[in-house]
Amino acid sequence: MTKYVIEGGRKLCGSTKVHGSKNSALPILAACIVCKGKNVIHNCPDLSDIDATCNILKHLGCTVSREGDTVIVDSTEVSENSIPDNLMREMRSSVIFLGAILSRTGEALLSSPGGCEIGLRPIDIHLDGMEKLGAQIVSEYGHIRCSNGGGLKGTKINLSFPSVGATENIMIAAASADGITVITNAAREPEISDLADFLNRGGARIAGAGESTVVIEGVKSLTGAEHTVIPDRIVAASYLSAAAFTGGEIELKSVIPAHLEPVLNVFEESGCRIDVNGRSISLTSPGRLKSVKMIRTMPYPGFPTDIQAPVAAMLTKAKGTSIIVETIFESRYKYIGELMRFGANINVDGRMAVIEGVPMLHGANVVSPDLRGGMALIVAGLGAEGTTVVADDNHICRGYETPEKVLSELNADIKRID
Ligand code: EPZ
Repeated sequence: MTKYVIEGGRKLCGSTKVHGSKNSALPILAACIVCKGKNVIHNCPDLSDIDATCNILKHLGCTVSREGDTVIVDSTEVSENSIPDNLMREMRSSVIFLGAILSRTGEALLSSPGGCEIGLRPIDIHLDGMEKLGAQIVSEYGHIRCSNGGGLKGTKINLSFPSVGATENIMIAAASADGITVITNAAREPEISDLADFLNRGGARIAGAGESTVVIEGVKSLTGAEHTVIPDRIVAASYLSAAAFTGGEIELKSVIPAHLEPVLNVFEESGCRIDVNGRSISLTSPGRLKSVKMIRTMPYPGFPTDIQAPVAAMLTKAKGTSIIVETIFESRYKYIGELMRFGANINVDGRMAVIEGVPMLHGANVVSPDLRGGMALIVAGLGAEGTTVVADDNHICRGYETPEKVLSELNADIKRID
């Protein structure tokens, strides 16, 4: 168990660089399986979820090495087509390997990824996409066996929901299917475009990524590629929330402001000043924030569900009442019970959280329930009076590179005790 010990009440100030996107690097690393050869992935964040993905790549027969923030994956030899239970459980999103293994080896055997802290995380849309491409799927005793018989065939696939992972799995599988695949109602997140850019560098022919309709013209085979992962928009927004909450002023470098569009409006509505300059974003907090009438999480380009928790923490001391509606995941409010221990006044009714701003929060001993909820508790501790201890069972390090170092460099008093 890791503990983050925070002495609250200090304004964040200074500037920091945002690391590469976890949710872009994960599917790109999985896609190395279909880009046969040496793949060089730059700006790959140093996170436990990335380590778990590299372990799966090694299990499948790839050689994987890291030089700083560059991960090199040689997928010339892929000898395995199954992911054992222990590796699947290490990271729920390892379902992203399904399309890659199926396409490369003709058969994929995964244990059902199971749910996680934020919800059941079904994979029916992924499996429906694989079936439409011609795979046969057998689910038995908690395992899923997908085989593509005579090879995958391009087809039209309409997603019942713009699932990020399902869009990614289908793109990867369709890249070397026979014929053209058209995905409609595709997810539009920036990570989808980044994955398409990587695959196209490996010889794929993907058009329309980032829009609702993606067209993939299958090619015979793909080769190894070199790629630089986009910055992590969720990490960027998390640190902006911390600066806003502590009345500070920070600059984030190497971000893509356009990816943060849906969140910047919320910061401005809460009274912060946002300055965009090329690949930097600066936020100046007014001190006490104004409440934000309504935040509804939506698929991109709507407000991202992953930033709901840190923004809720930021609004606990705002003047007035803020309302958040979480439309994507069914249990993404576990952190709110912990926020109440700081003295926050929040009511949760189903998918809706009503935050009544209070004049101050006092430090508390809390336990992080999941990755983004854990960051919300750190944000709360930074803006609370007194000492906070966030006990964290390796959730936060899945998505944030050394947050204690980044925040200390921004004038916070935070220590990590392993
Ligand atoms: C990706 O998860 C991200 N993870 C999540 O980030 C993010 O919250 C989510 O997209 C939404 O933006 C990675 O990219 C590794 P979905 P994913 O498929 O692909 C339902 C974080 O904190 N659904 O778009 O799993 C699902 O239950 C993580 O970094 C089905 O019903 O998200 C959910 O309600 C958390 N059937 C909704 O769709 C399916 O087959 C969105 O899921 C697939 C999804």
